[in-house]
Amino acid sequence: MDTKQLLNQLNAKNVANTFDLAKENNIDHQKVIGAVNSILALNNNIIFAEPITSKCWELTSEGESVILHGSYEVNVFNAIPSDGIAQKELMQLSNAKIGFSQAMSKGWIAIDRSANKIIRKIDSVLDQVKEDLTKLKLNCDEIDNSIKQDYKKRKLIREVVIKSFNLSKGPEFTTSIMKLETELTPDMILSGSWKTTEFKTYNFEALGQMPAAGCLHPLLKVRADIRQIFLEMGFTEMPTNNFVESSFWNFDSLFQPQQHPARDSHDTFFLDDPKTSENFPQEYLDKVKEVHSKGGYGSQGYGYDWSKDEAKKNVLRTHTTAVSARMLYGLAKNFKPTKYFSIDRVFRNETLDATHLAEFHQVEGVIADYNLTLGDLIGVLYMFFERLGMTELKFKPAYNPYTEPSMEIFCYHQGLEKWIEIGNSGMFRPEMLLPMGLPDKVNVIAWGLSLERPTMIKYGINNIRDLVGPKVNLQMVQNNPICRLDK
Ligand code: PHE
Repeated sequence: MDTKQLLNQLNAKNVANTFDLAKENNIDHQKVIGAVNSILALNNNIIFAEPITSKCWELTSEGESVILHGSYEVNVFNAIPSDGIAQKELMQLSNAKIGFSQAMSKGWIAIDRSANKIIRKIDSVLDQVKEDLTKLKLNCDEIDNSIKQDYKKRKLIREVVIKSFNLSKGPEFTTSIMKLETELTPDMILSGSWKTTEFKTYNFEALGQMPAAGCLHPLLKVRADIRQIFLEMGFTEMPTNNFVESSFWNFDSLFQPQQHPARDSHDTFFLDDPKTSENFPQEYLDKVKEVHSKGGYGSQGYGYDWSKDEAKKNVLRTHTTAVSARMLYGLAKNFKPTKYFSIDRVFRNETLDATHLAEFHQVEGVIADYNLTLGDLIGVLYMFFERLGMTELKFKPAYNPYTEPSMEIFCYHQGLEKWIEIGNSGMFRPEMLLPMGLPDKVNVIAWGLSLERPTMIKYGINNIRDLVGPKVNLQMVQNNPICRLDK
């Protein structure tokens, strides 16, 4: 429908509703709305358009098919010859079950028990359902409400909300609107016609087209921010690009005994192929074996038979501390004070629930220097977490096989108004550091936290499945703002 047609029809009627106009002209409602909008854009005194919402009924696709093929009960009735039909045969018809029960309850057909057949009780029937639906399609007010409810139950029709406009004439109503020019052409300039031409005004309110662009997942945004914090604090990023790690680096080098429950398949994913790793620095391996089984460096060790086969088993790394171990071993060759960090994925055989997945990201900070103390660790944790927007911290003694002392880190969350556990930390044990060949006086302080936890808090996400995995709503990823961990 163009604007001219719309104005002519409104002129004849004085008032009209866009939805009714669409029906009368047998065109899409949106086309009428389009014409209304173009007229309003020209001048909003030509017509008035008052938005209204109303309810109406429309046919479901099943309802449409009844109009085409007849109602199920009539089809059942028509399929019965004058001498009856076996029920089994009748039931071959599509939707025969519904049709049969409708025809029975309407008293059109009966079961003849003696002949074991279905027979007609009357000669002919009228397809009232088909007729009603055809009427309703033209005007949804034609049919009684109780009948509509019945068809609604039969899923032949459904109620819909319609947003339309009531149109009336405005003070400057006219049926001959001038089409305003949208472009100044060379011809207009040459002929001088531009002087008398009316141009459409610019619409500065129009929204530009959204550029199609990719967007970062919240985890990546928080990772970028945390990485920035580490870099500003003078840390170097460790290469964490190996998800598969040998048990040797994941556990043994960290002085984690081979019977430790974390080394069980209940907690750790073991690899089938390749099942084992082979190449370990022999001299270092001997020292690790020694410290586990017999002790040394002032420690009595665990006193068990350390097995190289156990150390060879490949696992999906359970923490990025395995990478820290490799890095510290490398650092020992030519020690200088160093600050390392990493943010990458780790894997644990967890029972999945609202806050746990079998894989997550670990954020880890490591500082190696002469004569570091627990005070240094606490101080650096305050500095680090302050940059994440967490200024109140509490520490609770904890246990890790590779740190002594060890502390769980709690922070007071202003938004949630409660203390939450945020990370784990400690000073690496001499049983871990000295076999690597680090100088005696060197201490290493370290801490770890998950990337998911602060991300969920930051973005107000309660279920980890809404953040990671197949159920993630891509719109959430698109809509979430840039991350600025409050500095
Ligand atoms: N690896 C520890 C964990 O998985 C985190 C940690 C890192 C603890 C460094 C102490 C020191 O939770």
